[in-house]
Amino acid sequence: MKSYNIAVIGGDGTGPEVTREAVKVLGAAASKFNFKLNYSDYDLGGERYLRTNEALPGSVVEELRSFPAILLGAIGHPDVKPGILEKGILLRLRFELEQYINLRPVKLYDERFCPLKDKGPKDIDFVVVRENNEGLYTGSGGFVFKGTPHEIAVQESINTRRGVERCLRYAFDYTRRRNKEKKLTLCGKTNVLTFAFDLWERAFHEVGAKDFPDIKRDYAHVDATTMWFVKNPEWFDVIVTDNMFGDIITDLGAMIQGGMGIAAGGNINPQGASMFEPIGGSAPKYTGLGVINPLAAICAGAMMLDFLGESTAAKAIEDCVIKVTREKVKSLAAGKMGFSTSQLGDLVASAI
Ligand code: IPM
Ligand code: MN
Repeated sequence: MKSYNIAVIGGDGTGPEVTREAVKVLGAAASKFNFKLNYSDYDLGGERYLRTNEALPGSVVEELRSFPAILLGAIGHPDVKPGILEKGILLRLRFELEQYINLRPVKLYDERFCPLKDKGPKDIDFVVVRENNEGLYTGSGGFVFKGTPHEIAVQESINTRRGVERCLRYAFDYTRRRNKEKKLTLCGKTNVLTFAFDLWERAFHEVGAKDFPDIKRDYAHVDATTMWFVKNPEWFDVIVTDNMFGDIITDLGAMIQGGMGIAAGGNINPQGASMFEPIGGSAPKYTGLGVINPLAAICAGAMMLDFLGESTAAKAIEDCVIKVTREKVKSLAAGKMGFSTSQLGDLVASAI
């Protein structure tokens, strides 16, 4: 029997509550489809930081590197200054484990949960491939004359040909494997960011023309992309974009697919340790109440199985989430689902 070692980082707030349900559903899928998942729990997050003054020891990064996959709940704590845990844990893992792709499917499972008028599941079904290691996220830049009236703050967007090209290649290949419209849209800002997106655009067409002639290439400015997410989401198949734009448009994507309760993502190193997470935060105000929606974490678990090669099991989980969402769930919002966090986990697990 195949077996996989999985690191689980429940993290902060409602993170442990939702990863628990994901593990429950993954267990049902493992026994049904005959594979084994061995979990190792890692205590990381705000509580540990407040206790030890260290967000993420280097030795833990090295341990995590040896897992094929990591399941993450949420990072973020009300008593820790913004930025410390995000940079110290989440971004550090993305960078050090070279998870250079952030994969975010935007798929509406039931039209009742779509805030857009006259749009349904057939209209909202696309995937965003966000570059996850470069752009404005590298921390490049600094202050000059800080605290004076002449203060200057520079935050640089780093775009390397290598980093951009490997992201584009992943996106083209993903579009081919997805086999829907075989259309890849580059989302950029070529009319203003004439260095960064010039590189992106040249690489996009060079790589596409040479190695992916079967994939249609399309382009949209980022501002127009947000407009079309609302007006014509059916135009998109796969979108590829840089780190910052990807961050922004995927929050909008999450809303049109029904909200943070359902939106999942993967931080992927195609050759290494990849990390799967519900994209909503730690939701401190709902912590410990058993009312948070675990479906996003469950969907992250399905993405993890797909990455591990267990695609039949991954598909089964997604199908069961769709069934339960359509037939049972009242709302995808915390506290309004009609079920507690663990009841919803039970429903999906028993559907499997
Ligand atoms: C996300 C989050 C993170 C990001 C934050 C928490 C650093 O918003 O995963 O989209 O900006 O990437
Ligand atoms: Mn974000």
